[in-house]
Amino acid sequence: MNSPVEPSIPTNPDSTDLTQSANPSTAGISLETAARARQADLPTGPAKTELVQSMFDAIAPRYDLVNRTMTFGLDVRWRKQSLRALALPPGSTVLDLACGTGDFLKLLHAGGYQAFGLDLSWGMLAANHTGSPLAQADGAALPIATGSVDGITCGYALRNFTDLGAVFQEFGRIVRPGGRISLLEVSEPDSGLLRTGHRIWFRHAVPLIGGLLSDRTAYRYLPKSTAYLPSTAELRSMLQEAGFSAVNRRGLSGGLSQLITASRSGRP
Ligand SMILES: C[S@@+](CC[C@H](N)C(=O)[O-])C[C@H]1O[C@@H](n2cnc3c(N)ncnc32)[C@H](O)[C@@H]1O
Repeated sequence: MNSPVEPSIPTNPDSTDLTQSANPSTAGISLETAARARQADLPTGPAKTELVQSMFDAIAPRYDLVNRTMTFGLDVRWRKQSLRALALPPGSTVLDLACGTGDFLKLLHAGGYQAFGLDLSWGMLAANHTGSPLAQADGAALPIATGSVDGITCGYALRNFTDLGAVFQEFGRIVRPGGRISLLEVSEPDSGLLRTGHRIWFRHAVPLIGGLLSDRTAYRYLPKSTAYLPSTAELRSMLQEAGFSAVNRRGLSGGLSQLITASRSGRP
């Protein structure tokens, strides 16, 4: 992992350990989400955290290759759109939560932001060669001082969090009033042909390609894991409860991905 360089991570004085283990709470998933997860035969609680962590450790070395192949490189465009929608000036301090191998961090640095990354998986952090300050942490218990960041980016991780409600509460705690968040997630297109094509691609081709290039079990889990995603209405109210306003959701590339942005309420 990279050694910390400027900017330093604005750590939480109440938190003593940057290498916190997973938060075992399951309180942050709604009954509907829990039911969908059960139906899809997916774990919840500590079992989910353990599975997600070991899965990303396993796929880290070939993560970028599989990602580019699976999305035909569109993921690069989606992260750029997400960064534009963050709408913060260069020089702003931005946390990239669930930074993985660092695609967002590279863009943030190129844009002149003071960026740093946190992730649950040591394997993903080890494959992150961005030179950004990095630490291992669970998004549900961020080792970051209250009101100390201007913004947060988070790519394709919402469905992987064990306690999404707790993660959003942490966003509300660490983002200063007037700050912004920009979150990317997978999505399903609304309309006919694209929706059918996407289903075939995501449910059948992705596990096949992932299995050939990387880890078959992990890439079988990927399409199933969308069952963890709350509805847009649920996401909106969870973010509002965490202290965000102007919550906006839009589909990208016909709905292949979704982008959720919001502003931290309160006077800057
Ligand atoms: C699909 S990858 C996305 C990586 C990167 N953000 C991107 O856009 O390519 C999901 C990431 O979420 C991380 N993750 C999963 N659960 C987490 C948690 N509870 N706290 C922090 N990171 C987590 C995983 O380790 C993994 O790196």
